[in-house]
Order: sequence, then structure tokens, then C-alpha cells
Amino acid sequence: ALVNTKEMFKKAYEGGYSIGAFNISDLEQLQGVLEACKERNSAVIIQASKSAISYAGIDTLVKLVKAASDEIGVDCALHLDHGPNFEMAKKCIDAGFTSVMIDGSHLDYEENVAITKQVVEYAHPKNVTVEAELGVLAGTEDDVTSDVHKYTEPDQAVDFVNRTGVDSLAIAIGTSHGAFKFKGEAKLRFDILEEIQSKLPNYPIVLHGASAVDQDAVATCNKFGGDIAGAKGVPVEMLRKASEMAVCKINMDTDLRLAMTAAIRKFMAENPKEFDPRKYLGAGRDAIKDVVLGKIDTVLGSKDSL
Ligand code: G3H
Ligand code: 13P
Ligand code: ZN
Ligand code: NA
Repeated sequence: ALVNTKEMFKKAYEGGYSIGAFNISDLEQLQGVLEACKERNSAVIIQASKSAISYAGIDTLVKLVKAASDEIGVDCALHLDHGPNFEMAKKCIDAGFTSVMIDGSHLDYEENVAITKQVVEYAHPKNVTVEAELGVLAGTEDDVTSDVHKYTEPDQAVDFVNRTGVDSLAIAIGTSHGAFKFKGEAKLRFDILEEIQSKLPNYPIVLHGASAVDQDAVATCNKFGGDIAGAKGVPVEMLRKASEMAVCKINMDTDLRLAMTAAIRKFMAENPKEFDPRKYLGAGRDAIKDVVLGKIDTVLGSKDSL
């Protein structure tokens, strides 16, 4: 069944772990994630961006996630990732999403407060939880690209949460979206996270752009015809440390994309006579499952959280 994020974040905060939020847009990604969570008895958030929703179809997506959740036997949240405006958030809530993000991080502060409040007021009576974002991650978020990273200001985070009543807050402490996160050494501002944690006790924080960019997956892509150079992610130890702190939700998309692509490229190269899509998509699904098992064990610590 589909659930909101309230209870899972409460337990994650108290238990010093975090919930994986995995982006999906198709059947194989969805099943790979849920099968891994079933095997580890782990809570999970399935999330879809605006472009993923338009790829899959909103009603198809909601029904697919509900059906897979019931058939595989894992309760999960269905969350809108990077909701661009009130209308999109409302559309997802009306369609059956149990959680939405309203991403006003690129707006003026007061506009971000206003749009977040508007979504919270629509969502809460319907038992839907809301995530907002403060600060700007360098890189590309859906169709918005930013060259500079704007760290979240802790005092502003406190004001924002108090004024909007939002259920969780995504912050900028140095992560970024995609496969090319750091030019030099990876660095996260744990001092900012600590300050926010002390000023907002028991409040669930979200980390976007948290793929580790497994170098074996990149190498496999490249070995079998890919061309991905200079990819770099967030070190696993840093993510584990964040999970033990106020971070309760960790967003990962790139790692799943890389694993699925690597597996399909390898399968295609090694099985030139095969043309049954279930064979190569199945290899992609198995790879997604393996990545998620690894995330639960090494990054999230969410085993037996269901
Ligand atoms: O933050 C963005 C997510 O990785 C989703 O990307 O807009 O290509 O679906 P997408
Ligand atoms: P990655 O690109 O690091 O996987 O981040 C995904 C994300 O933040 C989705 O909202
Ligand atoms: Zn994101
Ligand atoms: Na945590």
C-alpha cells in the first residue's frame, strides 16, 4: 500500500538511519527497487520527477506503483520529486501521490515561503506530506541548471520551517545532481548540517544529489561502448555519516541509471543473438536491485525498518 513519509521519517530520525528515495520512470526500475526493499524489510520512497511522470503517464505510474507495492509486499511512499509549481503538486496529490516536493529553491525567499505554504495547505488535509528546498545545488535539477552552489543558511531554515509547516526540508551542503559532482576533492559542509540539526531538533532533513557514482559501473558502461568520462560522486562514508545525523531521506537517481545502463550494455554485447526485451531489461532490473541492496547496507542503514 502507499503511505506518506511521516512515520518513516520519525522512526529514521530516532533510529539514526535514513530512507532511500529512488527515482523511477519504468516497470523494471520500480520492481528492482521494491524487490531489494522486500529482501531487506526496508521502508522506501519511490519518487518521480515531472519528466518521469510525463514519460510514464501519471495514472499509469500511480497504478503501477500501487500494484507493485501490493504484489511485492512492500509499503512505500509515492513522492513527486522537484515539483516545479503548485499546479503540478496538486495534480500529483489528486492522482494519488502520498508525498510531494515543491521546489521553490530558485525563487526569492519570500516566494519560496509562499508557494510552499500553498502546497502544505492543500496537501495536509489530504494526508499528503510535503518536502521543500532551501539553498541551491550546483548542477542540473530537471530543467533548471545552476553554476553556483548556494549553501543553506541555518537561521533561514528555522524561519522557513516555522512559517511553512513543511514536513521535511532539502538543504544544500555541497552535493549536486548527476554524475559529475566534484571537480576536485569531495567536500560536504557537515558544520551546516550540525547547526540546522541543533536549531531544528527532531526535524527531518533531505539530501539530494547523493549518488556515489560507482566507478565499476562507469567502467562497465565504457567497456561495452559507453563514453562517460570524469564521473565523480559523494563518498559512501559521508552519506553514512549524514544518515546517522538529521538526514532522514537520501535521493539517488544517477547510481540506478548507471547500474541499469552498465548491465544492459554488457548483456547486449555478450548476447548478440538475443532480442527478447525481457532478457536485457531483466538484467537491468537485477542490477537496480543489487544497487539498492548495497545502498541499504552501506549508506542508509534502513534494514528492518518496515
Ligand atoms: O533531480 C533530478 C532527478 O535526478 C530526476 O531527473 O528530471 O531527468 O527525471 P529527471
Ligand atoms: P543523483 O543525481 O545524485 O542521483 O541525485 C538524485 C536526486 O537528487 C533526485 O532528486
Ligand atoms: Zn534532487
Ligand atoms: Na538520520
